[in-house]
Amino acid sequence: MNFDREFFDAGIDRIGTDCEKWDDRAVLNEGAVPLWVADMDFRCAPAIGEAIARRAAHECYGYTMITDEDIAAFLAYNERRHGLRNAAEDVLMLPCVVTGLKLFVRCFTEPGERVAILTPVYGPFTMSIEQNGRTAVRVPLTRGRGDRYQIDFDRLEEAFRSGVRVMLMCSPHNPVGRCWTKEELEKVLVLTRRYGVKLCVDEIHAEFVFAPQRFVPILSLTEAGDEVVSLMSASKTFNIAGLQQAYALSPNHVLLEALGKERDAAGVVMGNIFALTATRAAWTEGEAWLDGLMDYLTDNLSLLKRLLKEHLPFARMSPVEATYLAWLDLSAYEGSCARLSQKFTHAGVALTSGTFFGPEGEGFMRLNFGCPAAQLAEGVKRMKHALNQQ
Ligand SMILES: Cc1ncc(COP(=O)(O)O)c(C=O)c1O
Repeated sequence: MNFDREFFDAGIDRIGTDCEKWDDRAVLNEGAVPLWVADMDFRCAPAIGEAIARRAAHECYGYTMITDEDIAAFLAYNERRHGLRNAAEDVLMLPCVVTGLKLFVRCFTEPGERVAILTPVYGPFTMSIEQNGRTAVRVPLTRGRGDRYQIDFDRLEEAFRSGVRVMLMCSPHNPVGRCWTKEELEKVLVLTRRYGVKLCVDEIHAEFVFAPQRFVPILSLTEAGDEVVSLMSASKTFNIAGLQQAYALSPNHVLLEALGKERDAAGVVMGNIFALTATRAAWTEGEAWLDGLMDYLTDNLSLLKRLLKEHLPFARMSPVEATYLAWLDLSAYEGSCARLSQKFTHAGVALTSGTFFGPEGEGFMRLNFGCPAAQLAEGVKRMKHALNQQ
């Protein structure tokens, strides 16, 4: 099968499948164009559906083992795509990446202790800290030339000096679209080592990196003894987030073992038959689809830039170096996210409110361009309509 424009242009009808993005009537009305939840409106790699169908055809779904092959498929993929060489012992299976963030916080801090995050950031980062009674230390990213965000290392160091025990990092960064460079990541590591801060890096968006940027896995920069864990999953990459399967990866087995104990004590279980089946198929047979997808998303990003220039010339989009999510400053049109959302709902288009990523997101919206080009164009047209109406 060809994973060309025609394949991705066709999209897939998701209405009535109980999917959050299209069917959540608390957020969007019937007929609205959804550009919000971070999954994609494309058929996934056929090898995944075929593997699930084959397994489903055997009508007994009893307790299932996580096998060496499951782990080996993940590790081989990681080596092929990212040059990372890890042993099976470096892997801890998890149901979700957010589970990993929460377990990391619970495992390596006590209630009330301080956890650093670079903000604005994907909402569950803050929730992982606050739901567990810890204190989130927000280190705001600075918006520099061309609306590109950067880490304020002085403020990060100040935060570490204030007694931070753990840092949760998003790499690449949702929502501001940064693909952190080797130099930036190395600077973070210098500081975490200096202040004894344990680092958990959510790398779920690793595959969505646009040339000339290159994804730098945090574990390609670590040294023996570093207290760093990477969280990964096929869920974003292959659009199978509803199945739920993720990995914590670290050569630091002391850290991994502690995390495993916390996971087991909390009663977190995994090993869903279909998640394992789908994920193995994704790692082993999904790459042609993924390459086609990246070509399509690259074109969509160019299209989005053109559409914004034409229809919403005062929107400021930060450079999307990575992810399929565009971070839009719409404050020239309307300063409040609540009002922006209201106007968009009225016009039949749904984006994610900037404040979901923290107070720094006021006046911003996040737009998901992981959809057929026609859907993207219709969505932007409706945004224009919404913002040009008084
Ligand atoms: C940065 C980031 N981490 C984690 C997740 C969710 O991952 P999971 O469903 O495996 O918890 C998302 C989903 O949008 C995300 O953007």
